[in-house]
Amino acid sequence: MAASSLHLLLLLSATIFLVIPTESKLSLNHYEKSCPRFHEIVCQIITAKQTASPTTAAAVLRVFFHDCMVGGCDGSILITSNAFNKAERDADINLSLPGDAFDLVTRAKIALELECPGVVSCTDILTISTRNLIKMAGGPFYQVLLGRKDGLVSLASRVAGNLAFPNMTVTEVIEHFKLKGFGVREMVALVGAHTIGFSHCSEFSKRIFNFSKKSATDPTINPIYAKGLQKLCMNYSNDPTIAAFNDVMTPGKFDNMYYKNLQRGLGLLATDQAMAEDPRTQPFVDLYAANETAFFDDFARAMEKVSIYKIKTGRQGEVRHRCDQFN
Ligand code: HEM
Ligand SMILES: *[C@@H]1O[C@H](CO)[C@@H](O)[C@H](O)[C@H]1NC(C)=O
Ligand SMILES: *[C@@H]1O[C@H](CO)[C@@H](O)[C@H](O)[C@H]1NC(C)=O
Ligand SMILES: *[C@@H]1O[C@H](CO)[C@@H](O)[C@H](O)[C@H]1NC(C)=O
Ligand SMILES: *[C@@H]1O[C@H](CO)[C@@H](O)[C@H](O)[C@H]1NC(C)=O
Ligand SMILES: *[C@@H]1O[C@H](CO)[C@@H](O)[C@H](O)[C@H]1NC(C)=O
Repeated sequence: MAASSLHLLLLLSATIFLVIPTESKLSLNHYEKSCPRFHEIVCQIITAKQTASPTTAAAVLRVFFHDCMVGGCDGSILITSNAFNKAERDADINLSLPGDAFDLVTRAKIALELECPGVVSCTDILTISTRNLIKMAGGPFYQVLLGRKDGLVSLASRVAGNLAFPNMTVTEVIEHFKLKGFGVREMVALVGAHTIGFSHCSEFSKRIFNFSKKSATDPTINPIYAKGLQKLCMNYSNDPTIAAFNDVMTPGKFDNMYYKNLQRGLGLLATDQAMAEDPRTQPFVDLYAANETAFFDDFARAMEKVSIYKIKTGRQGEVRHRCDQFN
């Protein structure tokens, strides 16, 4: 074949490849034939892990969200660094990603490789685990399409700019989510994930110690809550592992208490509390605080959307043998 026509052919196939919407290759029953016990095995591993370590649900949810926001839901956060590559999970701003999440995925992967080797992607494991753990913690159920491939790139340098920080203004956070295709209502629903889990003192210490010349603590924080946090975090510079519950009232339960807390100045991170004060976000905080069904519905829809964000299919990825290494 002449070089020019080969070139044309390649161009053509690249074009065809690009126009196929990636979601169309996912399905609810992707592993029905190739790994019939997929759901059963994942369920078993998750139940054992969550029962032994109740912090797992929040850990997995956070790691899942970070994975999706940095280059799409493709398991790139699971890759460990080596001498040649500083991976995504080791970015300086990884804000101490929780080990329970990586442990859960490793366990599930080992069990699945024994049952049906080379079939189930790590990113599907992370995505379905997140859904199941939210449900186990009392949250809503939502559909998870399956068939994602694991990504081929994991770089610490790609993390910057893709994650929101608690020191951002509401305008910056809104802009940040907008760039990823999520509106204000979806954003307020998604951050409701902070109804479970922890934050380390360094993430909110500015609100409780030497806040400003006028006030020792952030005036939007409930003073009794601030006192409790000051006590908890007293030694945090010596012991950076000290952490507080994101939802002080029902820390392990996936419910709408997070929003009720915000209405009473019991938000932990500055960005959490700011959502209850800003006129663009407050209406949704009030809605979700008053109506848990509304929160669950919106959270479920938004998570379905996150779960297919920039996913890889076909030759854009692979099914890793080990979740922490490329094949
Ligand atoms: C404004 C946007 C957000 C900011 C600034 C933010 C920031 C943070 C920070 C600083 C922590 C504490 C990390 C640590 O100290 O270990 C945290 C924890 C957490 N975040 Fe977010 N987050 C945001 C949105 C989200 C979203 C959209 C989700 C999921 C859908 C999420 C899920 C979680 C979970 C589950 C935890 C607890 C992790 C654990 O207990 O191990 N966050 N977040
Ligand atoms: C986060 O990054 C630090 C610094 O590179 C690293 O020591 C730590 O292991 C990382 N956390 C996880 C869970 O990989
Ligand atoms: C916000 O926090 C991040 C991470 O801790 C830090 O790198 C950045 O400088 C902070 N930004 C401001 C404006 O304080
Ligand atoms: C707060 O400021 C006081 C002096 O005004 C200082 O002694 C103290 O160490 C500061 N605390 C923190 C946590 O920075
Ligand atoms: C902080 O450290 C001091 C000295 O090591 C200790 O006496 C105190 O009990 C610690 N406080 C908390 C809340 O852990
Ligand atoms: C709560 O929200 C749900 C879902 O949007 C809605 O169907 C229901 O009518 C709302 N309940 C109340 C009491 O407003």
